[in-house]
Amino acid sequence: MGQDKKNLKVIKPFNAVIFGGDGDLAMRKIYPALFHRFVDKQLNVDFNIYAITRSDKKHGTFYEQLEKFILKTIDYELDHSLIAVFMKKIILLTLVDHTKSDYEPLKIELEKNPTYQNVYYLSTPSDAFGDIGDTLKLCGLINQKSKVVLEKPLGNSLASSQAIHAKISRSFTENQIYRIDHYLGKETVQNLMVLRFANHLFEYSWNSEHIDNVQITVAESLGVEKRGDYYDHSGALLDMVQNHLLQLVCLIGMEPPAQLDANSVRNEKLKVLNSLRLLDAESVLTDTVKGQYTRGKVDGEQLNSYLEDLEKYESSTETFVAIKAHIDNWRWKNTPFYLRTGKRMTKRYSEIVITFKSVKHNVFPMQGNIPGNKLIMRLQPEERIELVQMTKLPGPGGYRYRPISLKLDYMDSFHERFPEAYERLIVDVLRGEQTLFMRQDELEAAWVWIESVVNGWKEANMKNILYEAGSWGPGDLVMEKEHTWSTSTKRDEEGV
Ligand code: BG6
Repeated sequence: MGQDKKNLKVIKPFNAVIFGGDGDLAMRKIYPALFHRFVDKQLNVDFNIYAITRSDKKHGTFYEQLEKFILKTIDYELDHSLIAVFMKKIILLTLVDHTKSDYEPLKIELEKNPTYQNVYYLSTPSDAFGDIGDTLKLCGLINQKSKVVLEKPLGNSLASSQAIHAKISRSFTENQIYRIDHYLGKETVQNLMVLRFANHLFEYSWNSEHIDNVQITVAESLGVEKRGDYYDHSGALLDMVQNHLLQLVCLIGMEPPAQLDANSVRNEKLKVLNSLRLLDAESVLTDTVKGQYTRGKVDGEQLNSYLEDLEKYESSTETFVAIKAHIDNWRWKNTPFYLRTGKRMTKRYSEIVITFKSVKHNVFPMQGNIPGNKLIMRLQPEERIELVQMTKLPGPGGYRYRPISLKLDYMDSFHERFPEAYERLIVDVLRGEQTLFMRQDELEAAWVWIESVVNGWKEANMKNILYEAGSWGPGDLVMEKEHTWSTSTKRDEEGV
């Protein structure tokens, strides 16, 4: 998305400076992503990677750990000598404070290659962003070619995200800022654009006249692991819905952009976010559910409750959320978007299900109502697209039919390796391609909607429904005048 081959921008020699350079994200995602792109010869220019840490790190231990992390992600045949070549490009630097003198070693390094583009990757808590930007600027290390990559969480409210933006914009302009949402780097998510805008069949019927509802589910089997401190201040709504799920809503809901350049796409996404119907203390009671996991079992293994994972006695943080959202515009009037996500579900799976309306007139009344077609986009664990259609059962005996799936399994259809989301996103940063990164106005519009839920919950004093770890979440049916919707992440697999 964002580029066809002819228009691909080329990667120029670069210095990647990774703040939080010995952190978990850098080790698990950033270095491996750079390594795989290097092996794939996509980084066929000169480059250096600076791993910035704040406390003295033993060189030996760092490189040893790093190699282990990289090796873990290799899922193809590899000329192992490339690891040593790549490792030589990584330089470990300790910058304790955000001062000109502490940044001197970095300055000396970067000034060895003054024509290279400097890409600063801030894989640190956001309260450090302002200081890092200011110090880089003070040291004269930011020029027009420089870029900055920001990792989430970018605040926990509209005001805090604006404050972060105010700080980082002291040193970088909007077209130098890349806010990462790794969901946008996933292959199936990008395929959504191709599916919609390269297939007349779908785009033609992509509206509330033909689509009954849209469901986006991200079920995770993991709990909060070691991220309890962060997670307890965020919860499922801020951790997953504010960014990943809303970005999916945007790609499904937006109007076709005139072109695939960054601003055309982001302008359309922004319109969707601005059209989301705000919730309040009344509507959260019927249109949202929040939950928290208690002890449970998966495959006979006993799992802790959220509070046990946190080692706390109480917490009102939700580890599950389901929301019936509405996009109040011409295209989506009366087509609800059901969003569901939770930790410690039965299994890990993410998918988007578009359910079409039933046929206008039923000529097979003996079998009851005809279910609508479904377009299912499975994001993970496997990547797949299914189109569920009614099909006649073979043999005599009248028109008996069943929903049958036409399946496109990515693994069966494409034999090339699927790059990880970070690989795609990092290459886009190096190329200066911003389509897959959120603009500040998008972020703010997302916060406005999220805050309406947060405030609605507060005013209504909404409590978490407890659900067992290893279940599908609180599976209540919420009854309303016209709609019944299930909050459970379990998909109705009937006939599919
Ligand atoms: C992250 C969240 O952004 O996304 C995590 O902070 C979550 O809590 C993760 O586990 C899910 O990503 P994925 O790619 O595994 O679905």
